[in-house]
Order: sequence, then structure tokens, then C-alpha cells
Amino acid sequence: MTDQELVKTALGMLEAAYVPYSHFAVGAALECADGTVYTGCNVENAAYGAGICAERTALVKAVSEGKRAFTRLAVAARSRDFCTPCGICRQMLYEFAPDLPVLCARADGCFRTYTLRELLAHGFGPEGLIEGAETEKCGCGET
Ligand code: THU
Repeated sequence: MTDQELVKTALGMLEAAYVPYSHFAVGAALECADGTVYTGCNVENAAYGAGICAERTALVKAVSEGKRAFTRLAVAARSRDFCTPCGICRQMLYEFAPDLPVLCARADGCFRTYTLRELLAHGFGPEGLIEGAETEKCGCGET
């Protein structure tokens, strides 16, 4: 699948978005290392904070089906600007694919590609939970 096709798949999810509160539909298409693609849309809720973004919908669908390796993500909205993932989505994606290319599309279908590491610089991942002192020289002047 080309980048353009993945973005089209994300755009195709805009119709499925459940957005009675923000009226801002978002679609996502997450490609797995085995070539399968999981789609997602945002699903809002009367208790506003309980809503979920399109990217996380796609991610939890994929992970719940046993997928853990991802190669590309497309995100699309009918927005003027390129639609980039929110902070929570960046964090959840970082767990599985810190170098994931993220194709961020806008209303006209044009998109820009960023790596997740660019979008979440110095992100906290599974290795961040390892305790103990790093031997590498640090910037605090102590070592
Ligand atoms: N939203 C997404 O689904 N993904 C994004 O990348 C940005 C924001 C949703 C959350 C909410 O349903 C609506 O867009 C407005 O913030």
C-alpha cells in the first residue's frame, strides 16, 4: 500500500467517527509489520473525558488482535492544518513503535510525514522504567 493509499484509508474512516460534541471527525489507519491495516475513528462520549481518539482506537484494535509491530500510521481530518496525534496518542504509540512514520493529513488529502520520535522528543518508554544510575556522562556536573 502506498502512503497515499494509507492516507485515503484514514480519510475513509471520517464517516464512522462518532463526534456529536466536537463535530471534529478524525480517521486513522495503522499498518502492521505483517502488512495488515487496522482502522480507527474518534468515538466521543457524553462524559467528555471518556472519549477516545482515532489513533488509539486503531492501536487498541491491533494490539487486542495480537499485533505489536507497526510500520506506518496515517491520521486524517477535515482540518485546515495537518492533523497530528494528541499527546496521549503519541505516548501510547511510543510504547510499541518509537520510530513510527506518522502521515498527518488535512482536508485536501495532502499530508506531512513525521517520525513519532520527532513528535514525542525524549519520550518515556518501557526502558524508562529500568532503575539504577546510568554510567554515561551526564549534564549535571556531578559525574
Ligand atoms: N482527536 C483525534 O481523534 N485524534 C487527533 O489526532 C486529535 C484529536 C479527536 C478527539 C476529539 O474527539 C476530537 O478529535 C476533538 O479534539
